[in-house]
Amino acid sequence: MHALPQQPSASIRLSDYRAPAWRVETVELDFDLGIDASEVTAGLLLRRDPAQDAPLRLDGENLQLLSIRLDGRQLPATAYRYAGNVLEVDGARDGSVLETRVRLRPAANTALEGLYLSGSREAGFLLTQCEAEGFRHITFFPDRPDVLSSYTVTLRADRARFPVLLAGGNPDGAGELEGGRHWARFIDPHPKPSYLFALVAGRLEKIERDYVTADGRAVQLKIWAEADAIDRCHYAMDALERSMRWDEQAYGCNYDLDVFHVVATHDFNMGAMENKGLNIFNAKCLLAEPDSTTDDEYRHVEAVVAHEYFHNWSGNRVTCRDWFQLSLKEGLTVFREQSFSADMNSAPLKRIEDVALLRRAQFPEDAGPLAHPVRPAQYSEINNFYTATVYEKGAELVRMLAGALGRDGFRRGMDRYFARNDGRAATIEDFLAALGEANRTDLTPYLAWYGQAGTPRLKAHGHYDAARHEYTLTLAQHMPGNHGTEARPPLPIPVKLALFTPHGDMLPLHLDGQTSKTGNELVVVLAQAEQNFVFTNVATAPVPSLLRGFSAPVILECDYTPDELALLLAHDVDGFNRWEAGQQLAARAYEDLRDGTAAIALQAWCDALAKLFDNAAIDDALLADLLTPPGEVELAERESAIDPQRIHSLRQTLQQRLAERLGALALRQRYAALVAHTTIELDAISQARRRLKRRVLELLALLDHDGACELAAGQYRDAPGMTDRLAALAVLVRNDAAQVGAALHDYRERHADNALALDKWFAVQAQLPGEPALDRVRALEHDAAFTLKNPNRVQSLLGAFVRNNPSGFHRLDGAGYRLLAERLVALDALNPQVAARLATAFNGWQRLEPQRREAARAAIVELAGHRGLSRNLAEIIGSVLN
Ligand code: PHE
Ligand code: ZN
Repeated sequence: MHALPQQPSASIRLSDYRAPAWRVETVELDFDLGIDASEVTAGLLLRRDPAQDAPLRLDGENLQLLSIRLDGRQLPATAYRYAGNVLEVDGARDGSVLETRVRLRPAANTALEGLYLSGSREAGFLLTQCEAEGFRHITFFPDRPDVLSSYTVTLRADRARFPVLLAGGNPDGAGELEGGRHWARFIDPHPKPSYLFALVAGRLEKIERDYVTADGRAVQLKIWAEADAIDRCHYAMDALERSMRWDEQAYGCNYDLDVFHVVATHDFNMGAMENKGLNIFNAKCLLAEPDSTTDDEYRHVEAVVAHEYFHNWSGNRVTCRDWFQLSLKEGLTVFREQSFSADMNSAPLKRIEDVALLRRAQFPEDAGPLAHPVRPAQYSEINNFYTATVYEKGAELVRMLAGALGRDGFRRGMDRYFARNDGRAATIEDFLAALGEANRTDLTPYLAWYGQAGTPRLKAHGHYDAARHEYTLTLAQHMPGNHGTEARPPLPIPVKLALFTPHGDMLPLHLDGQTSKTGNELVVVLAQAEQNFVFTNVATAPVPSLLRGFSAPVILECDYTPDELALLLAHDVDGFNRWEAGQQLAARAYEDLRDGTAAIALQAWCDALAKLFDNAAIDDALLADLLTPPGEVELAERESAIDPQRIHSLRQTLQQRLAERLGALALRQRYAALVAHTTIELDAISQARRRLKRRVLELLALLDHDGACELAAGQYRDAPGMTDRLAALAVLVRNDAAQVGAALHDYRERHADNALALDKWFAVQAQLPGEPALDRVRALEHDAAFTLKNPNRVQSLLGAFVRNNPSGFHRLDGAGYRLLAERLVALDALNPQVAARLATAFNGWQRLEPQRREAARAAIVELAGHRGLSRNLAEIIGSVLN
């Protein structure tokens, strides 16, 4: 009955890349800005590639063409054609100037791509979003990242309605016009691709700071926001200054314009955007103040501010040749941000957080039908490739390269990369070549990592020869499942390792035949399908600590006993690997419960954590993480016929066993001790206490429901800031506490005027576990504050439900799937990018148990049969069904 989904054509291929036939040397843009209609005049100085003989073709979408002139002459209708989002113009020569004038409709732009309105018609402001292909929604242009041009931008608008006019580059004059209008001009001295163009116009307030770069440039830093938000920008300003200093010190990268603008908007499809000289942020990644921002969000703001700033070199000065190279800027910039955040905060906690994200978001992506290489070979809609694979796995690849070269070697390589590619549009090959040549080493074997999808498995097996005092570690790699059966070259897999005695001490390492490789910890690189590494002078049978710091993005398969994992959990000095041992042990404990087998791992896990719980030397935040078993999504990755509701209840039981082992009394005492230290400070120790306090309360609730809810209600009432308040609210919601109605009501009133705080009110309820979640979501959809037009609000309710609440979303009756499918149709008509991203929640449906699988399939097939789905959504749905 249902039409078969059309397989969206994978129309664009890396192998088809051709250099542009026409370039644009300079662009003069003139904007007459208005909410309903804006007019854009563009003057392009054209350069023709003499080696190519192609007509002039410019991209343009939804543009109302008002006039077109070539070299000063109005073109007759026969001299150009505008069809299929391409404008073809006859008669252009090298050095010609093409001038077009078009009309746009910002207020009608709900896709938030191109020029659009943020907020209300009366009070909102205008802004642009061009990455990846938004510039073609603003004017006719060769809208591809390998066309670099110098921009001169003039903005004109009514002064009362648009008092602030901003564009990227340095300011070059401003003044009055007739009729209450005014103008401002900006010149960007650095040639850039069109995706980095931006403008902002409206009523905005600012905070300012003067900054002098290491190489002596005076820069004005300005952060802009609407009046009710400007007081929440100070933390971002501090983070920006820290980022700028860090990039000077760590990479020798200095800022290169006289002003740096940052703008906050509540209407944004992504986290933030690195437009040259004019970064634009989703408010949730910029605004911060204790009363409405959690500790995790503070760190996120710092990270995103840094990320966007770091793009000024890794992305803007050196950009991407084409969108297949997206990870060249994104993987590298995520890695740079991770290093920065590790330096500013706790390095092991940052690593745990990043690896947990990789496992939660990237591993499932890489294991299902949406899997793609870090450098994809083809796509239909580029906006669907801003993925965990391109970002997070891409960052892991850079981390491996950095590890292979060492600190100084990597810096040398990066210096070479920036110097050689400055002002160019580069490729992954350029990156590997620069790093390799600066270190006289060949990194091309790592290119294979960029070209294949799937998470490799690393098998490790150790053998101790007591007579010869030798320990042989056998490492082998393989790629499981359906990622092609053709023979693949082995990947280079760096394995950082140490060996522990049964007492938890590290053994000195002597790697046979490699005299240079000694110490307590070293890196071996598995370069073949299988390899033996022999360690000599090993006094006792060791326990290996492998992949320390998560030295490669693989799944480790090692036949540890529960006792060995418990030993590492107790003694490993690598904070990440200590946590990792605990995660592995917890997963085994989970399997004990699931399979009803002897609870050896469960016992070992609980015993080890009980000891750590009483160990005053351990950091509170690390302890909180150690007390948290792998999440439901991660546990599901280990199953073949997934029943998310069963996983949820088994995981609850697992935590209950842990809570029983720790004991209600000890939990209560610990909670009380932490409450006694409650502050609103943001330092690491205060944050760590809040984190542990939350975890202890969650565990206590599994033993003493009413008592814990009582404490949570008190914590809610007395919370000095959002971290404690939201944690308490979450405990009340998830435990269906008697006090929850009053708390939700209070929160709603207290934060009624704060959209970001309200988002959390929606999200916490969308994560109500199990059957009741769906009705709650439906009810919240009728809340006056809910709208499909705001991406953050969609994310906070629907996103939190379908992505962060497996036991609520995956109902046996399939109602969760049908709800998602219905909302996707409505959302797609407004905002295809956001719809497509939400639709990835269907990923993995093939591995559900049969009844849910069938229900999910039916919902997806029905959705796929809808007429007029966007290319964005159609591509995701088509791939997911495969
Ligand atoms: N380039 C942005 C970043 O990662 C992300 C982004 C992509 C924003 C596309 C908007 C649109 O920093
Ligand atoms: Zn980025």
